Amino acid sequence: MLFQKKKDLIGIDIGSSAVKIVHLKESKGRFELATLGMSLLPPEAIVDNAIMDSSTIVEVVKGLVESLKIKTKNVATSISGHSVIIRKIQMPIMTEEEMESSIKWEAEQYIPFEISEVNLDFQQLGPDENDNSMVNVILVAAKKDFVNDYVALFKECGLEPLVMDIDCFAVENVFETSYGMAEEEVVALIDMGASSMNVNVLKNGASVFTRDIQVGGNVYNEEIQKRLGVDGETADKLKFGTEVDDIEPERVSEIIEDATENLAQELQRSIDFFAATTADEKVQKVYITGGVSKIPSVKPALESRLGVAVEHIDPWRQIAHNEKDFDPEYLNTMGPVYTVAVGLAMRRMGDK
Ligand SMILES: Nc1ncnc2c1ncn2[C@@H]1O[C@H](COP(=O)(O)OP(=O)(O)OP(=O)(O)O)[C@@H](O)[C@H]1O
Ligand SMILES: [Mg+2]
Repeated sequence: MLFQKKKDLIGIDIGSSAVKIVHLKESKGRFELATLGMSLLPPEAIVDNAIMDSSTIVEVVKGLVESLKIKTKNVATSISGHSVIIRKIQMPIMTEEEMESSIKWEAEQYIPFEISEVNLDFQQLGPDENDNSMVNVILVAAKKDFVNDYVALFKECGLEPLVMDIDCFAVENVFETSYGMAEEEVVALIDMGASSMNVNVLKNGASVFTRDIQVGGNVYNEEIQKRLGVDGETADKLKFGTEVDDIEPERVSEIIEDATENLAQELQRSIDFFAATTADEKVQKVYITGGVSKIPSVKPALESRLGVAVEHIDPWRQIAHNEKDFDPEYLNTMGPVYTVAVGLAMRRMGDK
């Protein structure tokens, strides 16, 4: 082929608390920020990662695409949660085509759903360390009806969902692009969202363990509401550090620290589980992202629980931007919220 025009894509992350859109231009092998924006969703629109109120989400996505004056219809998006299963498996060495036809039979033993009910995907990682006749493969299965709900939603917005990714792999994509692959290093990427936290452990630049924890930033709101007897709106203000009359800031900090400890404990459990199931592996560094990673107590709490250095992922690290169009301060403070959308916007057609 003489020309292969890379299709222009926008990254749309439908999080449980907000929709985020990122559009990147690519020139001379470098990304440049073209557009970004986000819009909050009401709490009941997405529950347990499933679309509950499709018409509200359609309205929000359409409104955001319009206000950002985005012309391209092609979308890269992602899913996560119970309906998505990610497993690292071993298969005999074979060609990509052979694997494509046999993965279905192989997958059956790893997936708790009927094979006919899931969409399957895989990625070959390379030979197995212990048995060089085998190759390590990342197997991904997502329930068809779950995926179809997302596809239908984008179609209703007049958009074409061309890439369907997984949240934690979008974060991995940002990490790879921004930080490169640290040989031999074992690092954990943690996306801390409103209703879930996604853990992805990488070794030699490839994913070796993933886990979705179904708890996130909403616990702060719940605890503040419960312990201070305030409404949802006030709880949100307090969580974001705004002072509210008649409420002692010390009391709020205490509740926030308790909730942070809760989340840190959940994460520690996952990391401990990883360490226990894979011999001689220890996470050496943790990278955090997602809106909740902005809460000041999160980083120190994780550092003291996990006993390793914790750093924020900077999703803009390899992306140029024009300072006249984008406020560096906004990019800096909102970076964690946009990481998944950035990873999606970096996807190109035919990527695997
Ligand atoms: N500055 C901040 N201080 C405290 N909390 C914050 C701050 N910024 C964002 N958050 C919280 O982070 C969460 C939103 O983060 P994010 O956008 O990553 O979640 P999401 O993608 O919508 O959720 P999920 O991935 O779980 O579906 C909310 O709970 C929000 O209140
Ligand atoms: Mg999210």
